[in-house]
Amino acid sequence: MDAIVLKNVWKVYKIGGTETYALKDVNLRIKEGEMVGILGPSGSGKSTLVHIIGCMDRPTKGEVYLFGKNILNLKDKELAELRKKYIGFVFQMFYLFPNMTALENVEIPMILAGIPKSIRTEKAMKLLEEVKLLEKAKNLPSQLSGGEQQRIAIARALANDPKIILADEPTGNLDVKSSSIVIELFKKLNREYGKTIVIVTHDIKIAENVDRIIVIKKGSIVANEVSIDEALEILKK
Ligand SMILES: Nc1ncnc2c1ncn2[C@@H]1O[C@H](COP(=O)(O)OP(=O)(O)O)[C@@H](O)[C@H]1O
Ligand SMILES: [Mg+2]
Repeated sequence: MDAIVLKNVWKVYKIGGTETYALKDVNLRIKEGEMVGILGPSGSGKSTLVHIIGCMDRPTKGEVYLFGKNILNLKDKELAELRKKYIGFVFQMFYLFPNMTALENVEIPMILAGIPKSIRTEKAMKLLEEVKLLEKAKNLPSQLSGGEQQRIAIARALANDPKIILADEPTGNLDVKSSSIVIELFKKLNREYGKTIVIVTHDIKIAENVDRIIVIKKGSIVANEVSIDEALEILKK
């Protein structure tokens, strides 16, 4: 089963009189259960690509399918529903709410999904246990290290049991030790829970741990399945 299919996807941003072609005729297929790394220089369209996969944005042209469902004709509300059901997003900057505890942050997606308080608290505790931060449940984000904040963000991404986890440079703000904990966590989610994972990254440690490396340059996918060495060679050019 294909989890993600993009067919001839273009994304053009228009600001004032200038057009930026962020994605140019991108074709991509990611199978359910795959763990994929997306490498590319800054400005190459990586974030745009994962935003489109994650239904946070629509393509200017082309088709996007999630588990066989074409998102083209969905209304904004239906698209948001699909996103809630299928997608968990992890960002470089964590984006936790500063005035809410770790536990409350993990509960947010479940509040939005209308899950009753008792059920969502129990689920959030389980997720905190999963990321080994149960003892920090009552901490505010400012009382956690960067690595811990990212693990809270990962727990939050898992709250609605998404089939797909998208991560945009998730270790970009972390030290080596925190990064490796986060990488191990992604691997576990993939290997043990069968999550389909797409990680945009500059981090060689992540690239070493994915099933497949894709390289994007200037809005085009220039390699669909390469080794790290090949990817680095392409990026040097
Ligand atoms: N919301 C936006 N409005 C206008 N231009 C954008 C927007 N988002 C991204 N871009 C442009 O699209 C290109 C790709 O950006 P992005 O996908 O963020 O690249 P990456 O994540 O690889 O650094 C860049 O030239 C960027 O300036
Ligand atoms: Mg980016």
